Amino acid sequence: MCGIVGILGIHEVAPSLVEALRRLEYRGYDSAGIATINNGHLDRRRAVGKLVNLSDLLVHNALPGKSGIGHTRWATHGAPSEANAHPHQAGPVAVVHNGIIENYKELRAELAEAGYQPQTETDTETVALLAQHLMSQGKSPTEAAMQTVDRLEGAFALAFLFDGEEDLMIAARKGSPLAIGHGDGEMFVGSDAIALAPLTDQITYLEEGDRAVLTRAGVEITDEAGRLVNREVKTIQMDAARVDKAGYKHFMAKEIAEQPSVLSGALSAYLTETGIALPEPGLDFDKIERLVMVACGTAFYACLTAKYWFERLAGIPVEVDIASEFRYREPPITPGTVALFVSQSGETADTLAALRYCQGKADKIVSVINVETSSIARESDLALPIHAGAEIGVASTKAFTCQLNALLLLALKAAQSRGRIDDDGLHEFMEALRALPGVFNIALDRDEVIAKAARQIAEARDVLFLGRGLMYPLALEGALKLKEISYIHAEAYASGELKHGPIALIDKNVPVVVLAPRDSLFDKTVSNMQEVMARGGKVCLITDAAGAKAAGEDVWQTIVMPEVREELTPLLYALPAQLLAYHAAIAKGTDVDQPRNLAKSVTVE
Ligand code: F6R
Repeated sequence: MCGIVGILGIHEVAPSLVEALRRLEYRGYDSAGIATINNGHLDRRRAVGKLVNLSDLLVHNALPGKSGIGHTRWATHGAPSEANAHPHQAGPVAVVHNGIIENYKELRAELAEAGYQPQTETDTETVALLAQHLMSQGKSPTEAAMQTVDRLEGAFALAFLFDGEEDLMIAARKGSPLAIGHGDGEMFVGSDAIALAPLTDQITYLEEGDRAVLTRAGVEITDEAGRLVNREVKTIQMDAARVDKAGYKHFMAKEIAEQPSVLSGALSAYLTETGIALPEPGLDFDKIERLVMVACGTAFYACLTAKYWFERLAGIPVEVDIASEFRYREPPITPGTVALFVSQSGETADTLAALRYCQGKADKIVSVINVETSSIARESDLALPIHAGAEIGVASTKAFTCQLNALLLLALKAAQSRGRIDDDGLHEFMEALRALPGVFNIALDRDEVIAKAARQIAEARDVLFLGRGLMYPLALEGALKLKEISYIHAEAYASGELKHGPIALIDKNVPVVVLAPRDSLFDKTVSNMQEVMARGGKVCLITDAAGAKAAGEDVWQTIVMPEVREELTPLLYALPAQLLAYHAAIAKGTDVDQPRNLAKSVTVE
């Protein structure tokens, strides 16, 4: 979490630092701050809350200077306050940090003995204090920064700036991503390339343990052992770095609405005239005895959905786990296991740690990611991009449908290789997939009906979501979407579990969203729905025309989706689940794109 940026520029840097922070706000928005060096003198401005508060502050209290660092915070140690906001300064050193310094208490105690007292509750201030202490012992700024980094345990991306040093910045990464940008007589540092997109498209990604010494003339990178290393300079596609709402009120609304075209692009990246083409080196599906899928949050629900596909279509046994549980359980990984990790950002700390646990144990490490340059993609044997484009809204929408798409294509490819589907069967499937973006458009046309239902749901304190089979993971995803952006308490259950406890919650004040296309399990779900209605529960049924007819008149709200083949329903029914949450959040007046306490990229465990 947190976003960091640094610029050694040829113009005033404050406006560019703020613009870069705007692009990093998805990583956290509890406070923001910048520090610059002007006429050799280090100074800083910080403000609690959204970046706009920092921008306002800078209007009245400008911060000149051509060298600077900036930070947008997701609070870990210490409440969001101005004192705890970065950059942290200790004497001649200013630091911005993304990650967690795990040994900060030991370092603090050591520094206290040397007479250094912290002024904040943060772990990061310890980094600045240690560098200050080392400089007071005669170390140069570079030596002090390097020796400080040597002492740190935990995860970090850091940028240091020093009083009196207009042409020097030190950066370091371990566990948190960091990109170096190359300009014309300027150099940049950023948590990601999107932050630097208006400044440069020439990017070097630091690798684990790397440290970088930047001057306007260039960068010198050393690895953890102190060896000088060459890291490739890549040209980044600027299209992928575009960040605008394209006329929509929120990024989330735009990202929901663009799913037909995004899915169409994602499909064409993998579908050929005759089949499904995976990136090299591909996979030997015949040898797979077990698939272990690991992820967090929405990506975890994409894995739960894919379990049904891999098992039913390809006959591969699948285990799905939450990354934060998997990594500490240390499960045995038997020969013939492929480990598959799903992540939009590709930087989720728990998912990355789970991947590293499987390295050297699983036959292959496969990832399904959106950010192709991410750590998870780079550390996988095979990385499948989902081609969702930049997702800015904190609540994942188009990345979820594109994760489902990539996983379904992988399951189909496996089914074909393992002789579980013939050419005609595959061809039929591919035709249905090619038609899906058009079907998405029809689903999005139901916006008004969904908004009406959402406005009523927004009045509830608790909401239940029910689904069976492929609709169960989607019920979980629908409940997550609703709670994270509208702050309404929502829970999801497999429909069949209802009478094993949760039915006790049902009364007229608890809307129950039932996801039930007229599929092979429809009749069973309808029985569960009747049990809810018999106890006064208000059912909002999301189904197709046949399902609506069969469910009868007593349903409180019915949202009718177009018909698609059963295996594709999770992709289609994701849309009304997303729209329901979006419109409920609008009715509640919450901050849709930046809901409280959340951040887009969860780079701490
Ligand atoms: C919910 C949401 C989160 C993420 C989760 C994993 O809308 O976005 O639950 O899905 O934090 O993030 P990634 O996919 O980046 O690993």
